[in-house]
Amino acid sequence: MIGGGYVGLVSGACFAEFGTDVTIVERDESKLSALRDGRIPIFEPGLDAIVASNVQAGRLTFTHDLTNAITDADAVFIAVGTPTRRGDGHADLTYVYAATREIALAAQKDLLVVTKSTVPVGTGREVANILKETRPDLSFDVASNPEFLREGNAIGDFMRPDRVIIGINSDTQDNGARAKELMGRLYQPLSLIEAPIVFTDLETAELTKYAANAFLAMKVTFINEMSDLCEKVGANIHDVARGMGLDQRIGKRFLNPGPGYGGSCFPKDTRALSAIAQDAAVPARLVDTTVLINEQRKHDMAERIIARSGGDVHGKTIAVLGLTFKPDTDDMREAASLPIIQTLHEQGAILRVFDPEGMEAARPLLPQNVIYCSDALDAAQDADTLVVLTEWNMFRALDPERLKHTMRGDVVVDLRNIWDPRIMRGSGFNYSSVGRP
Ligand code: UDX
Repeated sequence: MIGGGYVGLVSGACFAEFGTDVTIVERDESKLSALRDGRIPIFEPGLDAIVASNVQAGRLTFTHDLTNAITDADAVFIAVGTPTRRGDGHADLTYVYAATREIALAAQKDLLVVTKSTVPVGTGREVANILKETRPDLSFDVASNPEFLREGNAIGDFMRPDRVIIGINSDTQDNGARAKELMGRLYQPLSLIEAPIVFTDLETAELTKYAANAFLAMKVTFINEMSDLCEKVGANIHDVARGMGLDQRIGKRFLNPGPGYGGSCFPKDTRALSAIAQDAAVPARLVDTTVLINEQRKHDMAERIIARSGGDVHGKTIAVLGLTFKPDTDDMREAASLPIIQTLHEQGAILRVFDPEGMEAARPLLPQNVIYCSDALDAAQDADTLVVLTEWNMFRALDPERLKHTMRGDVVVDLRNIWDPRIMRGSGFNYSSVGRP
């Protein structure tokens, strides 16, 4: 497994749990030594236990030495980063192709090379070309096996997936038979739970990943728009979502309104899909629009907080509960909190923030004089307005009466609908949420 980041670590540990011997190659020395000491550099429930038990069992090891790691390997997974390239929205494939070349140079026998990172359509084909050109003496198989892991739920998603997508390069002597057999064996434990394994060609697997993420991003964006409309016409978004979602063609999940989607996947993958479609001269207009609406929404949410606070937040204290892009993660990438807090800061607000896991990652990204608090009540101390940006469970359990006495003002803007409007108003709050009367 090349890359000990989020995808590599979770996939590597889970394959080891399935009984496969896994070596994770990580070049960052500090990350590597942390992993070797049993310290997991990311927050992911259950990951530390699964890493520890597989290290103990001798099925999971860590190294910086790619050549050694692949000497006896049957398959090599590439799980390196594919950040958005500056300027054109495309995924930056520098790391993927560099890893491919290294694998080719180090290989000592025929090998299956699998892309696990989310990569644009055509990358698997290019990986196959690089391998062939670099080592014409060997015969490489290539597969694309995109991951569908949600942060905070990654182990469960790997162990009990809705499906596994495997694209195989059939442009080989055996029409991809050897690759298919080996990939099938790796995922064999999933046959117990009858998880569907979909075998396709490389391009289809690559596009499936983008299409799935863009569709989910669009679903969230759609419900956010409906939620704005609910507010204007006096309807309730949760009932609308339930009524829609019970139609099995629509489905109940991913219909929760909020301040706009964030994270390491939706924003990056929607932008990349837009760019891929643009290049193919088949513009993906729904996806383009989703990207624009979601970016605008984060700014609109800041304006909403200012409006609810009386139109001016200069010198006012605003408490922010939740910074990460969603709960059960410490990930701050593309979190709605970033542009929202930036705008409130520019408008002269004093910001008291709390997040159970994300504060360390947030520090370098937020304005310097933001005040980091020890818990939710500490953040609420003497606040004029309190804002909920991430739906951590611990916030649901806060006692409204205590919260009220802790704050100076009474304005609560709950952008994740974690509280009951009647209870909050009953406790004397000037409470508003999203998409509810
Ligand atoms: C996502 C995909 O779900 C996963 O399959 C893929 O492999 C990686 O990207 P992740 O980024 O971990 O996973 O988070 P996800 O749970 O999908 O949430 C993404 C964003 O959408 C978050 O900001 C979340 O708050 C938001 N969201 C999600 C909503 O606002 N409402 C919803 O109903 C669901």
